[in-house]
Amino acid sequence: MRKPIIVGNWKMNKGPEEAQKFYIELEKLMKNKTLDIEWAIAAPSISMVSLMAGDDKGLYIPLAAQNVHYEKSGAFTGELSLDMLMEYGLEYVIIGHSERRQYFNETDETVNLKIKATLNNSDITPIMAFGETEKEFDDKKTLSVVRKQINNGLKGINPNDAKEVVLAYEPIWAIGTGKTATPKQAQSVIKYSRSIVEEMFGKEVAQEIRIQYGGSMKPENIQELMKQPDIDGGLVGGASLDAKSFFKLLTYKK
Ligand code: 13P
Repeated sequence: MRKPIIVGNWKMNKGPEEAQKFYIELEKLMKNKTLDIEWAIAAPSISMVSLMAGDDKGLYIPLAAQNVHYEKSGAFTGELSLDMLMEYGLEYVIIGHSERRQYFNETDETVNLKIKATLNNSDITPIMAFGETEKEFDDKKTLSVVRKQINNGLKGINPNDAKEVVLAYEPIWAIGTGKTATPKQAQSVIKYSRSIVEEMFGKEVAQEIRIQYGGSMKPENIQELMKQPDIDGGLVGGASLDAKSFFKLLTYKK
């Protein structure tokens, strides 16, 4: 059984003060609640300290980075290394988000280097995002785009490591637009993605690897999306910024 995984991606939202308010609110909501899913928040690096339980042992929030560099250290202004993320206790890192591909020249090749570095040099779980643009969707190129991104992103990884990766299918036309892919659309692309994993790494890995959906996921639509047999979780932007809404996502009804 694949354990569902829901990750809030805050992108460039919430400084330390707002993050602290969120922490206090979420902690109240989570009192006496145990979740049987995996979850995390990908906050801006500078705000992460506000999401960490203090000495008085408050709510433990698993944390994710929004990006990482594949080199160990050196002259890479503005970047963070895997060692730094580990020292901070981060558990996940999002790699290849469409916004990084679109605005920061992230390519399938750099995505692949980052995934390999994460698997080889850390105990952090990489979450590899992929998905087509609106034009590619209109031109009916979704499946070929998805195939290429998965083939290139996971190239050269051994099957044992591949099953540790979390994949996140995020159709770009659904990100921050309120236009969610229908559960059927999302299921069909994610099922196809799983078949590509099977071609690359075999049946066992394909059955074990988790694939999230991302793109305007919210409390109102999570249940239908999560009912789909191949959807194993969500990568959530806007709806993760509000503690109540994020809490509803984490406690969605199966
Ligand atoms: P939204 O949930 O705001 O559409 O963002 C999705 C996303 O990009 C998560 O990584």
